[in-house]
Parts: sequence; structure tokens; C-alpha cells
Amino acid sequence: MNTVLFTVAAYLIGSVSFAVVVSKLFGLADPRTYGSNNPGATNVLRSGNKAAAALTLFGDGAKGWLAVWLAMRFGPQYGVGDGGIALVALAVFIGHLWPLFTRFVGGKGVATMLGVLIGINGWLGLATIVTWIVIAYAFRYSSLAALVASVFAPFYYGLLFGTDPILLAIVIMSGLLIYRHRQNVANLIAGKESRIGSKKK
Ligand code: G3P
Repeated sequence: MNTVLFTVAAYLIGSVSFAVVVSKLFGLADPRTYGSNNPGATNVLRSGNKAAAALTLFGDGAKGWLAVWLAMRFGPQYGVGDGGIALVALAVFIGHLWPLFTRFVGGKGVATMLGVLIGINGWLGLATIVTWIVIAYAFRYSSLAALVASVFAPFYYGLLFGTDPILLAIVIMSGLLIYRHRQNVANLIAGKESRIGSKKK
């Protein structure tokens, strides 16, 4: 029962779309109406407002971190084990992808997955961020960096902690993240993907 409560709370936390909230606060257009139409930090950056994009990245990451931190910090005393933490990690991620508060139209999960990984373990988060930065710096595609980092994340976890339910949650997150980037993959293959920093269309 406690695991269910932590999981539902995580889904609700994940359902807060910082791209939408921050854009409203800054008086910007709704990110679901321009660029890639994705409510995420990369698309908010296309508005030209770097502070709003940074805040979106931070907020969407922080909610992933918060849900996992709550489960790891307070879960064990309520009988929430690794399986429960795995469910919470998945729930906050799914909340971001299919949010209750914005009619189930959510983002692609990059910042939130990163926050989840940092919440699970700082080294895991750092390795994934470094992977993102290296690919982003080399190719200037946010989506490609996210795709590569998400594929590497389960391997980093496996190397650090071996096989457990949390690894399975990370594999599922990675799969969902790739699925959510299918248009980006098509654009990358067609040479039409916009590079980091290019403005909204
Ligand atoms: O955060 C999502 C990013 O990887 C791609 O975003 O807006 O270019 O589809 P976007």
C-alpha cells in the first residue's frame, strides 16, 4: 500500500510540466505551439529565452530527483524496497511523458530521466550527463545526445550496481525516451534535425 502511495505521488510530481509553467511565468508562447512542439527545455530554448530554458531543465530534472529522493529517504521505513523505488522512478518519468495536468500531452523525458538517475546515484547521474555533454558538444544535436546518453545509462547502472529492479526501470525509461524521440530520429536520418541554439520555426 505504501509503495502505491509513493508511486502515485511520484506520478503527480512528474505531471508538473515546467516547460509550460515556466513559459507562462516568463510570458512566453506555449512551447507546445512552436518548434518541435515539445514541452521541454530544448524547445523552450528555441524561444530565445535562455533563463526560461535553464529553469525548465532544472525544474524537470528536480522533480525526477525529488520523487526518487523521497522514496529512497522515507520509503524503507514504510517497507518500500528496490522494487518500489523502481516503480517510483518509472512513475515520475511517465508523469512527465503523459502528465495528468496537461491532458496527458507531455515531454520526451530527458531532464526528468537525468534527475531520476542523479537521485538514484550521483556517479550514475554524472556519467550520463558527461555522455550527453560529449555528444552534444561534438554534434550540436540535443536529441542525439539524449538518445546516446539514455542508451548508456543502463550500462552505467549495471556496472555500478549489477542487476536489480532499478536496472529494469532504467531500461524501460530508456526505451520510452527513444520511442518519444522517433520524430527526432527520422529528422536526424533525413538531415533535418535542428541544432542546439537554432531559433523557433
Ligand atoms: O529534450 C528533448 C530533446 O532531446 C529534443 O527536443 O524539442 O528538439 O524535439 P526537441
